[in-house]
Amino acid sequence: MMAAATPPDQAARTGASRTSASRTDADAPTAGASVSGNAGAPRVNPLQRLWLREIGMERLWLRQEPAAPSRPAAAQAQQPASAPAAGAGPAAAPAAPAAAKASPAAAPAAAPAAAVRSGPPPRPPARTREASPDPAPAPTPAEVAERVRDASLEELSAQVQACTACGLCHGRRHAVFGHGGQPTRWMVIGEAPGEQEDRQGLPFVGRSGQLLDAMLASVGMSRERDVFIANVIKCRPPGNRNPKPEEIAACSPYLMRQIALLKPERILVVGRFAAQTLLGTDATIGNLRGRIHRFKDESGREIPVVVSYHPAYLLRSPSEKARAWQDLRLACSQL
Ligand code: URA
Repeated sequence: MMAAATPPDQAARTGASRTSASRTDADAPTAGASVSGNAGAPRVNPLQRLWLREIGMERLWLRQEPAAPSRPAAAQAQQPASAPAAGAGPAAAPAAPAAAKASPAAAPAAAPAAAVRSGPPPRPPARTREASPDPAPAPTPAEVAERVRDASLEELSAQVQACTACGLCHGRRHAVFGHGGQPTRWMVIGEAPGEQEDRQGLPFVGRSGQLLDAMLASVGMSRERDVFIANVIKCRPPGNRNPKPEEIAACSPYLMRQIALLKPERILVVGRFAAQTLLGTDATIGNLRGRIHRFKDESGREIPVVVSYHPAYLLRSPSEKARAWQDLRLACSQL
């Protein structure tokens, strides 16, 4: 999905294990780091914008008037699924991590017009839903967005554990909701769970997690106390491959709601994938580092965002730790 150019990215691609290594610090063409929509265009969040771009509908969709309110919800349900149809209902979902209270997901609700407006566009018509023995269709991103709209953090966690919105649910041991202290001073956003995270149901528990903890400790921060760590994608992609645009679109409502609920003072995005996804840009880590970005949450609150290297990349390229230290100092400064 992302083009490669820089030495860091080349190094990343030689990494044996994912832990975001392969998507940590790459370069890609073009820019467009705006996180807010064009005036007059339908409002989409950065992840939705990325998805629109991926499927070549960004211009078309953003040029449109808000989706016609008369568009029947049933028509939504007819849209081909972006992923293999959900096979696992809540009962078939793997055990949730101890912190998560599993609760049956509600039947896919009809997406009201408002949810259709703010959600991602219809699926590309060329694709068709794969046959599945399970009649329950995977909820669309708009339906997921509608379900999470008023969810508390606890409810959101339960929804993530039971999520069947994309095919990643079939291969997971645990969905990884995120973990951290509250009130949340910093939110750290990575890419997706790796093998250890999938096993344990917690984010950043491997070697890169140890490094992340050490980095946070160096500026007096702790995931137990004041940092909440989450990922863009809540379920491990098989073989640690890059998350697909439709997986990002399906998962993005959870991250958006997490940010809105946690109200972090700062967001530290680690790695190329998370930075590009959250900021809705193809710019390189090198271009994104060293300055403050602003992320507008659901309520319009602007949160300062600092971009840094992924810890997995730093493990392979320790000489870059000095730059990561600069990033942490920037995040500590009065923004
Ligand atoms: N890499 C990530 O981006 N997130 C994790 O949780 C673990 C490794």
